[in-house]
Amino acid sequence: MPEGLKLGFATFARVRGVLVVFCAENLKFGPETQRTLAPLGNLLRRAAAADRFAGKNGSALDIIAPSGLNVPRLIVVGTGKEGELKSRDIVKLGGVALGKVPAAATEATIFAEFGSGPLKADQIGDLALGVRLRAYRFDRYKTKRKEGEERADKVTVNVACANPAAVDKAWQRPLAIADGVVLARDLVNEPANVLYPGEFARRASGLKRLGVVVEVLDVAAMKKLGMAALLGVGQGSVHEAKLVVMRWPGGKRGADPVAFIGKGVCFDSGGISIKPSQGMEDMKGDMAGAACVVGLMQALAARKARVNAVGAIGLVENMPDGKAQRPGDIVTAMSGQTIEIVNTDAEGRLVLADLLHYVNKRFKPKFMIDLATLTGAIMVALGQEYSGLFSNDDKLADRLIKAGETTGERVWRLPLGPEYDKLIDSKVADMKNTGGRFGGSITAAQLLQRFVDKTPWAHLDIAGTALGSPQTDINKSWSAGWGVRLLDRLVADHYER
Ligand code: BES
Ligand code: MN
Ligand code: ZN
Repeated sequence: MPEGLKLGFATFARVRGVLVVFCAENLKFGPETQRTLAPLGNLLRRAAAADRFAGKNGSALDIIAPSGLNVPRLIVVGTGKEGELKSRDIVKLGGVALGKVPAAATEATIFAEFGSGPLKADQIGDLALGVRLRAYRFDRYKTKRKEGEERADKVTVNVACANPAAVDKAWQRPLAIADGVVLARDLVNEPANVLYPGEFARRASGLKRLGVVVEVLDVAAMKKLGMAALLGVGQGSVHEAKLVVMRWPGGKRGADPVAFIGKGVCFDSGGISIKPSQGMEDMKGDMAGAACVVGLMQALAARKARVNAVGAIGLVENMPDGKAQRPGDIVTAMSGQTIEIVNTDAEGRLVLADLLHYVNKRFKPKFMIDLATLTGAIMVALGQEYSGLFSNDDKLADRLIKAGETTGERVWRLPLGPEYDKLIDSKVADMKNTGGRFGGSITAAQLLQRFVDKTPWAHLDIAGTALGSPQTDINKSWSAGWGVRLLDRLVADHYER
């Protein structure tokens, strides 16, 4: 929950607090907005001219105590040309709208109407989603506020529309998704002294209250299964590794599930191949893949998605220690394949190797999608705008690309192939865990592919998108909660009965 935000509905007639309205290019207002702003006379046109405001998308005009209107402030947000507005643009406008409400305000009303007229129910949902995501902040460890940063403890935001009761149903979906994104953001932002594997597993277990079936496997259980690749990564930590399996049984009884798999390295020091200290604190977020899977399961369960979904996350801490794994060690993964550890900092793929094999064997899923902050190299290739996509299945890859265009969480496909696969062959074992400097993200994906058999599979390398996320209109946090909206969309578009 974005603490402090109370989001509700009202009618157009019930304006309270700061009023936010939208207009298209050339100050084109919808009918309800026009009626409400009529008492202003030509004030609006004069203010717009003075501020050179013309309704460009994302721009805003801010009028304090407008005479004739009983509001402390009127904010006009431009939508630009409306013909071009997609779902993700409307989510963004929700973020812009809330962003323009001053921090000290306790109440605001946002008109769900564009220049062309009232928004449809699902568009109102998108708008609300944007408001919720923009309201998020991670401040639970702040005991003081800086001067001039005074903020109201609670802000009530009402979305005004013609028939609030009719929207109520369409509302549940975006709120479920927002809760999932917020959960993912919280998990990623938490420091590693608080969120170690055991605590992460406890928080994931909280999904039980939504009807998700949650199992937590401890080290003994994983040993029995032969998960030496995953366990080797965690053996230098005082915190016991955990594997969490979450199942949402919303689909047809007995139908094969879709499966999501997350890298959950709660802290990645590099292990014996220790990382340089510069920026190492960011490695508290090396569990963003797992956080996304938990957030997604929360969203699917909260909106009662009609799908059988499995989420599996491998939770470990990668530390240097007398008991830690060494470069040169050889481990036998659950699948029976052996891996030479040449760099203990290439640990995520080891966790995923056992997870992928386990989920594939146990659940026979329709597809597997894994998410991992896997390689620094993906940031060199793609920056922070796109996640890297690798797949053995063109249909699944295309669906992901399309879902990304819809939600704005975009993915870019990179190649796989036998020439790359060769680079991880080892002299002493079946494979080694790094393939050298060139094509680092690709060789990491090749290792994963050796554990997925023929099952349709996609790997999303989210090292660039999930951490230190670009600041946008719908995210002002270090962690965007990347992937929850993308995968929810994928499921909704193709895999619900
Ligand atoms: N968790 C890191 C990747 C990473 C780096 C994520 C920066 C987010 C920001 C991963 O475990 C790692 O250390 N990868 C190495 C692999 C190398 C040793 C082959 C890397 O990318 O340098
Ligand atoms: Mn690492
Ligand atoms: Zn890592």
